[in-house]
Amino acid sequence: MKYDRCMEIVERDAKVYSDFARIPYYPLAIKRGRGAIIEDMDGNKFIDMLSSASSLNTGHSHPRITKAITDQLEDFISYTAAYTYSEPLISLGEKLCRITPGDFEKRVVYGLSGSDANDGMIKMVRAYTGRTKIISFVGSYHGSTLGSLSLSAISLNMRRKIGPLLPDISHIKYPDCYRCSYSKESDSCSLECLRDFKEALKTYMPPEEIAAVVMEPIAGDAGLIVPPGKYVNELYRICRENGILFVSEEVQQGFGRTGKWFCIEHFNVVPDIIVMGKSMASGVPLSAIVARKEITDSLGPPAHLFTMSGNALSCAASVETINIIEEEGLLERSRELGDYAKARFNEMKKKYELIGDVRGKGLSIGVDLVKDRITKEGNKEAAAKICYRCWEKGVIVIFLASGVLRIQPPLVISKEELDRALDIIEESIQEFINNEIPDSVLDVAVGW
Ligand SMILES: Cc1ncc(COP(=O)(O)O)c(C=O)c1O
Repeated sequence: MKYDRCMEIVERDAKVYSDFARIPYYPLAIKRGRGAIIEDMDGNKFIDMLSSASSLNTGHSHPRITKAITDQLEDFISYTAAYTYSEPLISLGEKLCRITPGDFEKRVVYGLSGSDANDGMIKMVRAYTGRTKIISFVGSYHGSTLGSLSLSAISLNMRRKIGPLLPDISHIKYPDCYRCSYSKESDSCSLECLRDFKEALKTYMPPEEIAAVVMEPIAGDAGLIVPPGKYVNELYRICRENGILFVSEEVQQGFGRTGKWFCIEHFNVVPDIIVMGKSMASGVPLSAIVARKEITDSLGPPAHLFTMSGNALSCAASVETINIIEEEGLLERSRELGDYAKARFNEMKKKYELIGDVRGKGLSIGVDLVKDRITKEGNKEAAAKICYRCWEKGVIVIFLASGVLRIQPPLVISKEELDRALDIIEESIQEFINNEIPDSVLDVAVGW
C-alpha cells in the first residue's frame, strides 16, 4: 500500500491542529466510507472494526441516513430549539421514550456530545436529590468537558493543570472479574469488590448525601470490562435503598452496540436516567439524556440548553437511525455476529498465550493481550504492534487500557468482511509472536 497523500495530510495537520486532541495509532486520513469499509486519501481500503469509536453503528454513509439528512437540509438545518419547536425533535423524543427501558413518564434533553450530556445529567441528579455527591468508576471515560471529566478517571494528562474539577465526585473500582483484586471467581464470589463501597457508606460517606451512581454497563475505554450481573443488581439495590439515582451511561454501549438498545437491559435494571450520544445520529453530532419526568422537572428553564441542541438535522438523522436499527434487525445482528466473533477470538485464545481474556456483549468485544497468563499484566506493546500491522493489512482496530483490542465494527458489517478482518487480526497476532513487527511502530502507535 502507498500512503503518500495520507502522509501529506498528517504533515499539514501537525501545523494547524493541537496534538493534545488526539490519541495516535497510525496515519489514516479518510476520504470516504460506505458500510463497514473506509477508503483513505491514497485509495487504500480498510475494514472498519472501530466504527469511529462506536459512533457509526449503522455504518458509514448508510443511504437512508444520507437521504434523511439531505431531505432535512432542503427544509431547514437548524433553528434553535431554545426558542422554537420542530417536528424532528419531537419524533425523536417519542422514539427515545419508547426504546429506553422503564414504564414511567420520561422527558428528553438534547445536546451535541456525550460529554455535554453527562454535564446535564450531573445538574439534574444534584437538583432532583438536593444532594451533591456522585459516584463513578476508576478507569472510566465520560467526556472532556469539566463536568464529564470530573466523572472520568482514565488519564492524568486529561486532569493535569486544569483544576479544580467538580467537587464531591468519588471513584470506586469497576468490578473486573478477569483481574479480580480479591482473586475470586465471579460465579462463586461474594461481591468482595463492593465491600469498600458498602464500608464507605457506613463510615465516611453518608448515603443520604449521594445524588447518583453513574455506571457504564460495560466499562468501554477502561478496557471493555463486563461487570457481573449480580454486581449491577446489588449496586442498584443499594441505590434504591438509599434514594440514590442510578444512571446508565450508554454513550458508547447504547444504540444496539451490545445487541440490545441499551446495554443496561442485559442486567434487568431500569435506570432512572440514561445518557446517550455517539451512534444515535449515525455520525451527526447529537446526544441525549432520557430521565424520569420528575427528575427533569427539578430544574427550571433555562437550566440546560445549547443553541444547536435538538437541531433538525441531527434529529432527522437520529430518527432514521432508529428506523434502520429496527427494520434491518441490527440488534439481533449485533448479537449473532458478536457471538461469532467472540467464538473466533476464543479459538485464537486456545492457540496464543498472548490472549488472556475475550469478553463483551454483542459487537462490543475486548480482546485482552497479556505478557503472561499468570500475572495478567497487560501487553501494550503487543497491542500497539498488532493494531499497526492490522492497519498495514487493511483493518482498522485500536487498543485501550493496557493492551485491550477494541472490537466494535459497524453493526451492518457483512459476515465476509468480519471474517476477513478476523483473519487479518489473527495473522497480525502471529506476526507479532514471530517478532516480525519492528519496534519503530511504537513511536507511531502510541494509543491512550
Ligand atoms: C462512555 C463514554 N461517555 C462519554 C464519552 C464522551 O462522548 P463525546 O466524545 O461525544 O463527548 C465517550 C467518548 O468516548 C464515552 O466512551
